[in-house]
Order: sequence, then C-alpha cells, then structure tokens
Amino acid sequence: MKPSVISAPAMLGMLGGGQLGRFFVIAAHELGYKVTVLDPDKNSPAGKIADVHLCANYDDAGALEQMAKTCQAVTTEFENVPAQTLEKLAESVTVRPSAECVAVAQNRVLEKNFIKNAGLPVAPFAVINDVSDLPVDDSALYPAILKVARFGYDGKGQARVKNQAEALQAFKEFKQEVCVLEQMLALDLEVSVVLARDAAGKIASFSTAENSHLNGILDISIAPARCSEVIKANAQELAKKLAAQLNYVGVLGVEFFLVGNQLLVNEIAPRPHNSGHYTIDACITNQFEQQVRVMTGLPLGNSALHSDAVMVNILGDSWFPTSEKNSALEPAWNKALSHANLKLHLYGKHEPRKARKMGHFTVIDKDLKTALNTALVARSELHIGE
Ligand SMILES: Nc1ncnc2c1ncn2[C@@H]1O[C@H](COP(=O)(O)OP(=O)(O)OP(=O)(O)O)[C@@H](O)[C@H]1O
Ligand SMILES: [Mg+2]
Repeated sequence: MKPSVISAPAMLGMLGGGQLGRFFVIAAHELGYKVTVLDPDKNSPAGKIADVHLCANYDDAGALEQMAKTCQAVTTEFENVPAQTLEKLAESVTVRPSAECVAVAQNRVLEKNFIKNAGLPVAPFAVINDVSDLPVDDSALYPAILKVARFGYDGKGQARVKNQAEALQAFKEFKQEVCVLEQMLALDLEVSVVLARDAAGKIASFSTAENSHLNGILDISIAPARCSEVIKANAQELAKKLAAQLNYVGVLGVEFFLVGNQLLVNEIAPRPHNSGHYTIDACITNQFEQQVRVMTGLPLGNSALHSDAVMVNILGDSWFPTSEKNSALEPAWNKALSHANLKLHLYGKHEPRKARKMGHFTVIDKDLKTALNTALVARSELHIGE
C-alpha cells in the first residue's frame, strides 16, 4: 500500500525550538505547511517564527494532547526529548523518526552496541556502569575519553583521561552516571554523512562532508570532503547500511572518524545535523526540506551539491572578541557580508553566550579552494577561533 501524503497546508509538529527547528519551520513554510513548535523557552528561535508555539515542557500532557490533535505528523530537532513523549504522540499521530530510533541515538551505550551489532566499525570502548568497570592502567583503552551515556552534546559531559585514577575522578565528577570509556584515537580526519530515508526505504544522501572541531564543538564543515573517493563512498555505504538496519524514516546524521584508511562510526543524530547546514545554500534540496518531505510522505528531493561549500559556525564568543570585555559587542556582520559568495544565517537567539551556537555562514563556489580561502578570511573577521 502506498502511504498517503500529508498535503499543505496541514499543520506539522516540531519538538524543540532551537536552530534546527527554526530551519525546519522555514522549509515547511516554503512548502506551504504550518508548524507547531513545542519548547519551554519563550524566546526559542523556532518558536518565534512558528504558527503556534506551545511554550511548555516536553512531558506536558496538555501540550502533547494539543500537538497530537492539531498536527498531522510530528518530528524532533534534538535527541534528548523524553522517549515517553514520542511514544505518547505515536499513539495518535505519525512520528518520524520513530521513538525506537531516537531512543538508540539518545543513549551512547545503546548507540554503540547497535552500531557494533549492525557489523559497523566503532572505536574500542567499555561501558562504565560503576567504579569497578573502570579498566586498570595497562588497558589498551588509555588514553581515553570518558563520555556520559546521556545528555552530552558539543563536547559537554566528556573528559580526557590518561589512566584509571583520572577516569575515576572524571566518573565521580559525572556523578557516576552510566558512561562509555572510549579509546582516544589519532584522527586523520572527521567526516559525516547526512541522509534522508523514506518509509519505502528509499535514500537520498548528501555529499560526505569533512568536519573540524574546536574545543569539542564543530567549527568548519567542507563539502565535498577532501579525501579519496573510496573513503567518501565507504562513508556513504556505512551510513546507508546503518539507516536501513535501524529501519530509519527521517533525516539521519552519521559522524565518522578516519584513522589511516579505516572509517569508524562515532555517533548518529536522529535529525538534521550541524555538518549538513551547508546543504541550505549548496544543494538542490536542503536537509530541512528533506525532513519535511519524509514526514509528509512527499517524494525525496534531489540532494545533489550544486556548488562546493565551506560552512563555519558562529559561536557567542564572536560577541566577546577580547577576553577582558564582558559586555557583548555585535560582530562586524558588514565585513562578512562584503564577500559576495557568503551566505549568513543568524538564529535569532535571545542572548549571546560563549560556546553557544548563534549562527553560521556558508561560502559557496565552483572551486573549493576559493570557497575555503574566503571562509577563512571571514572567519577571522568575525574573531572565530581566537
Ligand atoms: N575516541 C575519540 N578519539 C579522538 N577524538 C575524539 C574521540 N571521541 C570524540 N573525539 C573528538 O571530540 C568531538 C566530539 O565528540 P562526540 O561527537 O562524541 O561528542 P558530542 O558532545 O556528541 O558532540 P556533538 O554533539 O557536537 O557531535 C569529536 O568530533 C572528535 O573531534
Ligand atoms: Mg559528535
């Protein structure tokens, strides 16, 4: 049976009101849909531009009931929405991706085991349920990174540890929450694949992107990635295999580590991904439009790259260019905007804070080197990475 299509101007539901939710609202509006956003923050970037903003907690029974009654389908912009919320909504409305898939992505232990059991390579790791699980000093896992199993993002809830004593201290600092201890790898490169998979199992995948991080936060994404065609194709294959094994319906981000010629899956995101923001300006269909298309049962759009692209994240740090200054200073947008191939996207966040994602820009060009040069100039004009 062909699944029925939810046609515009139907109301769509979005759990979460951050920048990913905001780009979803924009894409949904472009296609003629209305959007209800659930987010407890009255200033949330997506809530501000939604047709309806339910300003309530993610487990608020009344808000969920209204969402289920008024929306034709619901999706999420972050993995930490309570599993019960998705299950509750799924009783009466289409939820994409499924509660099961989100549950895997929101817990590093389930996630790593799922990836490993699916036959895909991951970094060596141990699950730390309590102190006795911490490996002794001569374990091959050290030096390692201790990562809390739940609620970590942008490098939060992670500690680099050299031995058992340091691991113990970090584990205590994380209040002995369940953790994963992962071997620290000498990374040659980080790449990611964002794809959309529909209910019939059809996949439209975006180019493999190359990512670099600063202080645990994504700094720059380059598309296409500057590595061999074999590695790029391998990343595509692994991401598709994972999506199929998850029986995933929606937009999925898959992060990889490259060590030598070996790709390892780092983690997955059950939603559009920061490293896929370049698709807004450089692809025929962007990752947020694909998210709308999958949840409404529309055919997937063409995800081909029409220009090479370099995306740079703009954090709140750009408002505080000198460390002595505590009052926020608006960055010199005009300088960045003087580059004709630069597309600026600010998220409308209420208040700039250090390490907070406030926006990004993407430079597109036929030539990747030219795009990268311009992006690096604009990056320093905005005091990024200082
Ligand atoms: N085992 C490892 N070996 C080397 N570097 C690592 C390892 N694990 C993480 N990193 C580095 O730290 C970054 C953030 O790690 P990870 O993706 O696990 O965290 P996160 O908090 O979920 O981040 P985000 O939400 O931004 O993706 C990675 O992209 C990588 O640069
Ligand atoms: Mg990550």
